[in-house]
Amino acid sequence: MVAPLKVGIAGLGTVGAEVVRLIENEGKALSARAGRSVRVVAVTARSQAKKRSLDLRGIAWVKDPVALATSEDIDCFVELMGGAGEPALSAVEAALKSGKSVVTANKALIAKHGIRLAQAAEKHGGALNFEAAVGAAIPVIKTLREGLAATGINRVYGILNGTCNYILTRMEQEGLSFAECLKDAQRLGYAEANPSFDVDGHDTAQKLAILASLAFGTKVAQSAVYVEGISSISPEDLRAASDLGYRVKLLGVAVKTAKGIEQRVHPTMVPKSSSIAQVMGVTNAVTIDGEGIPPITLVGPGAGGAATASAVVADIADVARGVRVNPFGRPVERLRATEKAPMERHEGGYYIRLMARDLAGTAATIATHLAEQKISIESIVQRHANGADVGKSAGKGSQVPVLLITYATHEDAVYRALAAVQRDKVISGRPQVIRIEKN
Ligand code: NAP
Ligand code: HSE
Repeated sequence: MVAPLKVGIAGLGTVGAEVVRLIENEGKALSARAGRSVRVVAVTARSQAKKRSLDLRGIAWVKDPVALATSEDIDCFVELMGGAGEPALSAVEAALKSGKSVVTANKALIAKHGIRLAQAAEKHGGALNFEAAVGAAIPVIKTLREGLAATGINRVYGILNGTCNYILTRMEQEGLSFAECLKDAQRLGYAEANPSFDVDGHDTAQKLAILASLAFGTKVAQSAVYVEGISSISPEDLRAASDLGYRVKLLGVAVKTAKGIEQRVHPTMVPKSSSIAQVMGVTNAVTIDGEGIPPITLVGPGAGGAATASAVVADIADVARGVRVNPFGRPVERLRATEKAPMERHEGGYYIRLMARDLAGTAATIATHLAEQKISIESIVQRHANGADVGKSAGKGSQVPVLLITYATHEDAVYRALAAVQRDKVISGRPQVIRIEKN
């Protein structure tokens, strides 16, 4: 009989607690599938005294995560503490250097130190599995790394942050404030320990950098990702998007272009009729455009303890089976450096919201500056000023929202045109600009 796989878990929070429960509750099915039973033999967390609704009887508590990672009593180290720094980095590296396999859900760690850790895994023979780091329960890492090993990838994009999609969905559908929605996302265990990683787009950027590496055979480079979060999106933008036939989503997009690989994370207007616009709440969706095959879209729960534990335990099952794949799909020495495409040359349509002076000539000034940059307008709407009689301007000094949708153009042209409009003092405040993705 094969000996059980002995697992040590560092981190017993939202994800770690569910991993312990899942291994306990699904032990028989897991052992049938993996051909070997899996036992949690040791754990650690910040505080041993903390009340946890977990039965940890018979499981050793090891105070120091690095000591747990290198303990002779475990075969596989599961890191669920989070963060790209300590103690996660030292613990994972120490486990790999002692020849153990590692499973982690930590995208921050993999995006920042993935290559160094993959080298350690290669050198010492352990596995480094991180399926839960992107899309929680969605098996997107395996799909890119193994399922599509024979397919060239041109683009991978999607909704990669459950917290942001949950916030945008509830703001749009229920008219709730950003702050209220974020609080609920935290209560439900979706948000990171520091939720600014979610709402400022960094969590999506880390996930996108990992997907881009797997898709294009490049070294993970979070610094190559252009990042904008959702905190500047107002209920007014969501209403305007809806009126114009769009919905706002935080997308991560990695695409091969003639100028290199474009990696970008930003709020995006997508047509309401598109499939990505139907993805609501904490659900994530990833579309992969491969050569010679129609796009593949994977949809599923993108955050939360149970969803994430599902992928963590699947990775543990692979370790139990003795499956070991190069962490980024090929040996580290075969991964190329990322050639970053400049964001200024990004080409696409744009939504622009301006607060414009409600006087004759304003629209003409705006249109002229857009035309100077060869930007063609698909639609323009001037909202009625609050307090003005229908059919009349609200008077000197009043401001009205103007909403524009452009046809495809370059990013730098849009910003040059808006700078010229600002210089002419026909608008107040900063223009709101949201990129549009039509397919
Ligand atoms: P969490 O609820 O904040 O739990 C973190 C756990 O790590 C806690 O048990 C904490 O101990 C422990 N910990 C933190 N610092 C430690 C230290 N210095 N030494 C020892 N233990 C320490 O976080 P989580 O939501 O479970 O996330 C864990 C990881 O999974 C992160 O990398 C996260 O990005 C990733 N992830 C999370 C989700 C999700 O939906 N939550 C989804 C996908 C991936 P105490 O309990 O004693 O405080
Ligand atoms: N905070 C992350 C999210 C957890 O909301 O998507 C899943 O990685």
